[in-house]
Amino acid sequence: MGIFNRKKAAPAARPVPRHVAIVLDGNGRWAQKRGLPRTAGHAAGSENFRRIATYCRDIGMDYLTVYAFSTENWKRSAEEVSAIMGLLKKYLLEALEKMERDHIRLQFFGDLHRLPQELQDLAARTWETSQRYTGFQANICLNYGGRDEIVRAARAFAARCAAGEARPEELTEAGFSDLLYSRGIPDPDLIIRPSGELRLSNFLLWQAAYSEFYFTDVLWPDFTPRDLERAIADFNGRSRRFGGV
Ligand code: FPP
Repeated sequence: MGIFNRKKAAPAARPVPRHVAIVLDGNGRWAQKRGLPRTAGHAAGSENFRRIATYCRDIGMDYLTVYAFSTENWKRSAEEVSAIMGLLKKYLLEALEKMERDHIRLQFFGDLHRLPQELQDLAARTWETSQRYTGFQANICLNYGGRDEIVRAARAFAARCAAGEARPEELTEAGFSDLLYSRGIPDPDLIIRPSGELRLSNFLLWQAAYSEFYFTDVLWPDFTPRDLERAIADFNGRSRRFGGV
């Protein structure tokens, strides 16, 4: 099937990337522009995740990965962190309830141990339930950092070597990929960052090696399926050579 998923042609005949990743950025500025607290921006951002994930499922994408909470986001005020955790809880509870109907499977990338216990349990239940289904999957990055992910993978392999179960020279790129949170999932074809910031911010550092990037000034809560269409159309106009000619 190559890098494209041609399962469904709707709504327009065009290849849909198999895996799109998005940095959910601009919630705070969205709220500020409306004179609302930052937490209102996160609530709108969370609603928008639901809308975009549903759209991705409908057009036949296989994976959507979103950066919802980074290893650095703990530096925010306790109030803001707690509001984000509350929104995640709300989203997961609803997703669990509707999974049979919606068929949006969820997986989590990141070190979940630092999250509130209730959220950890909920994430585990959501992942467990997701495995009963097939098809579209959304990956939510929580307490996630690309460097942290790579260090953990390196440690895991080093531990195998120390235990005499592996030898350093046996490690391959594919083998290393299997030690990451994203094991078994193809690398993102397209990474989108809304809100005008032009950086990766520690998102999917290993997996982004050959991803195409798309930046837009639109703030995440305002990012519509039409904006996603624009990004995909732009992506489809590019020539991906993966280092070849
Ligand atoms: C970045 O915008 C956004 C976050 C750090 C939090 C994102 C979390 C959610 C949308 C809530 C739940 C998510 C899901 C997937 C249900 P920002 O606050 O950095 O915006 P700013 O740059 O404008 O301040």
